[in-house]
Amino acid sequence: MKILGIETSCDETSAAILDDDRLKSNIILSQLDVHRAYGGVVPELASRAHIQAIVPIIREALAEAGIAKNAVDGIAVTYGPGLIGSLLVGLNVAKGIALSLKKPLIGVNHIEGHIFANALEHPQLKPPFLALVVSGGHTQLVDVKDWGEYTIVGKTIDDAAGEAFDKVAKLLGLDYPGGPEIDRLARNGNPEFVKFPRAWMGSRNFNFSFSGLKTAVLTYVELQTDEFIRDHLADIVASFQEAVVDVLLEKSRKALVALKYHQVALAGGVARNWALRNAFVQMGKKNRVDVFLPGAEFCTDNAAMIAKVGQFYLEKGVVSPPTLDANPSLKLSVAAPSATGV
Ligand code: KG4
Ligand code: ZN
Repeated sequence: MKILGIETSCDETSAAILDDDRLKSNIILSQLDVHRAYGGVVPELASRAHIQAIVPIIREALAEAGIAKNAVDGIAVTYGPGLIGSLLVGLNVAKGIALSLKKPLIGVNHIEGHIFANALEHPQLKPPFLALVVSGGHTQLVDVKDWGEYTIVGKTIDDAAGEAFDKVAKLLGLDYPGGPEIDRLARNGNPEFVKFPRAWMGSRNFNFSFSGLKTAVLTYVELQTDEFIRDHLADIVASFQEAVVDVLLEKSRKALVALKYHQVALAGGVARNWALRNAFVQMGKKNRVDVFLPGAEFCTDNAAMIAKVGQFYLEKGVVSPPTLDANPSLKLSVAAPSATGV
C-alpha cells in the first residue's frame, strides 16, 4: 500500500511516500529563514510559504520515491491541531489530489502522527505503552492502550516544553528556535550551576508547568551582569535544561509505575534533545523500561509520520469525508477520521 503523506500544520512543509514498511521519501522544507527575524512563527507568512512550497515538495517526494501519482493508494494529511492558515494549505491540496485521482483522503491528527513516528523505525513497539509528547505546542503524557486508542494522563497547564526552550532562549538573546541552540550550548555547561525550580505539583499528578521555570530564569538573569551571563551562558542553559528534563523524566517514570507499563516512547521536537534522550535511556536501564526514541528527522514535524497514521487507518478502511475541515485545536481523543467513503 502506497501512501502520500502531507504535513503543513506549522512551519515545515513536508511530503512523504510510504510504501508498506518502506519509507521511500520524506521531503521537509523548514521555514526557519522566513520566521527567524521575528523570533517566532508568523502565521500569515507560514501560510504563504506553504502555498509556494507545497506542490514542488509533493512532486519531489513522488520523484524521489520513483512512483507515479496514480500509483498512490491514499492521501494522508494533517487536519489539526496547528495554525489554521497552514493546515488549510495542506488539506486543500490533499483534497484536490484525492478528487482528481479518485483516491481516499485520510485526515490525520498531528499529535497522533508524532506518536506514530516511533512505529516508523521501531516495528517491535507494540501497545500498550506510555508516550511523552513534547513539542513546541504540546506537552502530554499519553496512555497508548492501542494504536488509535489514547487517554491523556497528564499535560502542561501553561507553556509546552518546546515553548519554554524557545522563550528562555529568546530572553538570553539566542536564535530562534531556541531548543536546538540550548541543546548545543548546554553540552559544555554545568547543569548544577543554578538550582532552578522543578514544578512537581504533587506526587500523584502527571501534569506539568513550565511558566514558573521560565520566570525563574528571567529573574535570575535580570540580577546578573551582562558579562556574567556571557561567561556562564552554557552553565545557565544547562541548568535550565536539567530542570525541564528532571520534571519530564520523573513524571513519566511515575506514570509508568501507575499504569504498570514497561515501555515508553518519546515524540515531538523536544525529543531531539540530547540530555532528555540520555536521561530516558539511563532511566530505562535502571528501571527495566524499554525506551523508544524516534530518529531526529522523525521527532520534528515531517510527513512520514502522517503517512504512517494514514496507512494504519486506510488498512482498517477508515477514511475521511470530502467535507473534512481543518481543526486548529483538534484533540487526541478524536484522532480517528470519521468513517465514510470518498
Ligand atoms: O514537533 P515540532 O517540530 O513542532 C510542533 O509540533 O510544535 O517541535 C518544535 C519544538 C520547538 O519548540 C523547538 O525549539 C523544539 O521543538 N526543539 C528542541 C530541540 N529541537 C527542537 N528542544 C530542545 N532540544 C532540541 N534539540
Ligand atoms: Zn509537531
